[in-house]
Amino acid sequence: HRILCVVGARPNFMKMAPIMAALSSHGPALAPLLVHTGQHYDVAMNHQYFQALGIPDPDINLEVGSGSHAQQTAEVMRRFEPALDEVAPAAVLVVGDVNSTIACALVAAKKGVPVIHVEAGLRSFDRAMPEEINRVLTDQLSSLLFTTEESGRANLLREGIDERCIHFVGNVMIDTLRLNLPRAIPAARIAADAGRAGFTDNGYAVLTLHRPSNVDDAAVLQRLLETAARIGQRTPVFFPVHPRTHATIERFGLSHLLDRPGILLLPPMGYLEMLGLMKQARVVLTDSGGIQEETTALGTPCITLRHNTERPITVDEGTNTIAGSDPAIILAAYDAIMAGGGKAGRVPHYWDGRAAERIAVIVRDWLRGRE
Ligand code: UD1
Repeated sequence: HRILCVVGARPNFMKMAPIMAALSSHGPALAPLLVHTGQHYDVAMNHQYFQALGIPDPDINLEVGSGSHAQQTAEVMRRFEPALDEVAPAAVLVVGDVNSTIACALVAAKKGVPVIHVEAGLRSFDRAMPEEINRVLTDQLSSLLFTTEESGRANLLREGIDERCIHFVGNVMIDTLRLNLPRAIPAARIAADAGRAGFTDNGYAVLTLHRPSNVDDAAVLQRLLETAARIGQRTPVFFPVHPRTHATIERFGLSHLLDRPGILLLPPMGYLEMLGLMKQARVVLTDSGGIQEETTALGTPCITLRHNTERPITVDEGTNTIAGSDPAIILAAYDAIMAGGGKAGRVPHYWDGRAAERIAVIVRDWLRGRE
């Protein structure tokens, strides 16, 4: 059975790596093929990840590039359709919630090709977030839905998904984290390579920002960068800058806020670098979805610079605190963590490095049942 697996943007790559490996381990019963839509195209957003994670080169590259949401989604759909016709797979497997996820799911579902969604059921209940729309719609189109945490099942049942299609398997991104942790690149080396040896000597923080709600609004972005600068006066901050964020910092003329010794600006990091940074950090401040989960798996305190999370288990069981974009709340959370009052957290059930294996077995049996 050919399974056409789709990746498009950076957070997809670390989820797909263990899935491809687990599907391949079943021999001809499950033959994964990889299509990269090209939603992310920069070397920094892309190639480093494929290499570090040992993902095979994509069998098909659609090279869609950037655009408005409508343009990007439409272009993925237009280019994915002939690829789907040519491969004629038994199923299309999509991960996460990016534009490529919904675009390929929609093309497949309308052609009668079953869709498998890995990381189903997560809900922020915030439709202002493009990913929330992608999540809800992709789940509606899917025949097999794999959840990372138990909240996903209740969300899906509420939306009318058949219980028999839902499988709680754990978190494939944490499969990748566990496999690669021994190879993580130490933060001290990243600082030294950036010409800032000694930056990590007394502990450090990590900041990532890329959500439109944080970086496309000048006032919000300014507030967040000023808060980062204040934290940087006490704890050195690594700040790998996403291309979207880089562009808006320039456009709003805010780069002077970051021009100080406590802030180390970096280009987007590779996977092993990011892992090393998160592993030893005193605290991570982020608006990423994946980093909320990775810090919970690592036991590193995380402050989420959003007003909600679609990953509530990282708050209920993990190390995550939701802080929004109000400097007073962010700084209070930071102070609590630095004073030793951060959450201890525990690693959620099934975030054990074997989620992809579970997925492969269920997909195999499901395909047999359809014969
Ligand atoms: C996308 C995902 C988001 C994910 C994020 C991780 C959607 C709706 N959003 O957001 O869920 O968390 O990826 O990175 O799918 N750009 C480059 N080089 C690239 C890719 C993009 O310079 O390789 C620029 C584009 O020109 C664009 C901006 O970055 O202006 C945003 O790229 P896009 O892929 O549209 O969305 P992200 O913000 O990266």
